[in-house]
Amino acid sequence: MARKIVITSGKGGVGKSTVCFNLGVQLAKTGARVVMLDVDVGLNNLDIVSGIQQKVVFDIVDVIEGRAGLHQALINDAQVLDLYYLPSCHTYNTGKVSAKDLQNVVQELSSSFDYILIDCPAGIDFGFHRAVFCCSEALIVTTPHISSVADADKVATLLCHYNLDGVGLVVNRVKPKLLAPQDISNALKLKLIGVIPESDALNIMASQSGVGLCADLKINKAFKNLRDNVFYADYRLNQQIKY
Ligand SMILES: Nc1ncnc2c1ncn2[C@@H]1O[C@H](COP(=O)(O)OP(=O)(O)O)[C@@H](O)[C@H]1O
Ligand SMILES: [Mg+2]
Repeated sequence: MARKIVITSGKGGVGKSTVCFNLGVQLAKTGARVVMLDVDVGLNNLDIVSGIQQKVVFDIVDVIEGRAGLHQALINDAQVLDLYYLPSCHTYNTGKVSAKDLQNVVQELSSSFDYILIDCPAGIDFGFHRAVFCCSEALIVTTPHISSVADADKVATLLCHYNLDGVGLVVNRVKPKLLAPQDISNALKLKLIGVIPESDALNIMASQSGVGLCADLKINKAFKNLRDNVFYADYRLNQQIKY
């Protein structure tokens, strides 16, 4: 049975897709079987971050509507053996996928994978509900800016209405003189499990191709720590956390 983790934020542009992709890569590098789904149906950008755009033959709507089997639609990462993607729908017709449809897909994936990572759309409407509904854990991503932290707070409150095993906090784009990650964690009363620094390399990649693994060593270390916190020092068990 896979662990089903939604990566959410409330506010857009804070790094959900970046965190989802890099966490997935780091988990898969340990030999865990990982599948990622971008459920920002129609506005999918995980497909861009991961570089699978050109390889998509079938997408999640094809699977739900019976035009393709689930395993026909899955795309294997070009560089990381145990990493797979289920492509999102490329046309903006978000209503085609119900929460129940998505839950069925996740359920079917669950027997073949160790981790299912769901890249949640921004906002707190139907798309948010649909993504959280089929998961058992959540990571809330925020940047060290008041508006982003306020949205993370709203999302944390909403998540209390779902029956989740654990909710962890990832502070992204951390740099000196901005809010400190631990202060944000204390204010939100969420366990801090990831601290990702601001990185020119990530920004430049996004502006040029938007694709692939980041060569910045400090970014890789930060994502490895996040992976370890998810994997070993499981926030569900209140264990030691490393940054
Ligand atoms: N730690 C970081 N340092 C610098 N740029 C980042 C960082 N994290 C994300 N970005 C950039 O911020 C932008 C938005 O990130 P993205 O992951 O697409 O956000 P979201 O999925 O929440 O909308 C992208 O251009 C991405 O490269
Ligand atoms: Mg995104």
